[in-house]
Amino acid sequence: MASEKVSIAELLRLASRLDGISDTPRLDLEVLLCHVLGKPRSYLFTWPEKELDQQQVNCFNDLLKRRAQGEPIAYLTGEKEFWSLSLNVDTTTLIPRPDTELLVETALNVLDKPDARVLDLGTGTGAIALALASENSGWKILAVDTVVGAVELAEQNRQRLGLDNVTVIRSDWFENIPAQKFDLIVTNPPYIDEDDRHLKEGDVRFEPVSALVADNKGMADIEFIICGAKEYLVDGGCLLIEHGYQQAKAVCTLLQNEGFLYIETACDMAGLERLTSGCFKKPC
Ligand SMILES: C[S@@+](CC[C@H](N)C(=O)[O-])C[C@H]1O[C@@H](n2cnc3c(N)ncnc32)[C@H](O)[C@@H]1O
Repeated sequence: MASEKVSIAELLRLASRLDGISDTPRLDLEVLLCHVLGKPRSYLFTWPEKELDQQQVNCFNDLLKRRAQGEPIAYLTGEKEFWSLSLNVDTTTLIPRPDTELLVETALNVLDKPDARVLDLGTGTGAIALALASENSGWKILAVDTVVGAVELAEQNRQRLGLDNVTVIRSDWFENIPAQKFDLIVTNPPYIDEDDRHLKEGDVRFEPVSALVADNKGMADIEFIICGAKEYLVDGGCLLIEHGYQQAKAVCTLLQNEGFLYIETACDMAGLERLTSGCFKKPC
């Protein structure tokens, strides 16, 4: 590991320590270095000969060691970009994924109503709710999570971004939601089977089980949400669910069985079926 006074250029040469750990070793190092220095990436290229003081070197070494053990960059820096918002992240919940931006994009497309009411179930960092709120100041968004730390984190992000049209509360799915109707319910719930081998690989090893795993081969929370959502949707209101790439068929069947119409599945950036929506119409 680096010690004493070391320059930016010298530290960036340590990227090989992340070979086999990260797909982007050099970028990881740059991000960690920017975090330690409190500077933008351009600073690294403008001042490669700049030396770090001992405290900065120690801090960098510590972060590099943790990264070499597989800890996600976002947990090391405590932040992650989502929908052009900078969000605080911590180990109470999932690190927001770029794929979830598809859900935000779809929500913005399905709902053309300036004063819409929206519910985000399992908000985590608040990523989806805050992204939607940032695009529509007239929308009133209720964001819920059952994990106290996640509720605090989402509220922290909400305040920092000054998005007053979002309310964050603690609720086990619908349990604490006051009786009301929403135009749209969005959710990225836990949907991974507890035996899924992916849980033992990469970043997810460091993320909480409460954000990832659901019973019944990953379908239990999705099933619960689909069954409960009708009570909270206006006539013609939509439910948008992010799910696993092999769950689209099961999600469509559940939506059909619960009387949802206009059911559609969309693919993520990798071409996998990851998002299904349906609208609820009261039977005549
Ligand atoms: C896959 S993460 C999604 C987080 C965030 N919406 C996102 O897309 O980045 C699922 C979230 O659901 C929350 N969750 C799990 N069980 C819940 C429950 N019974 N009620 C409410 N939220 C729950 C977890 O704490 C976690 O924050």
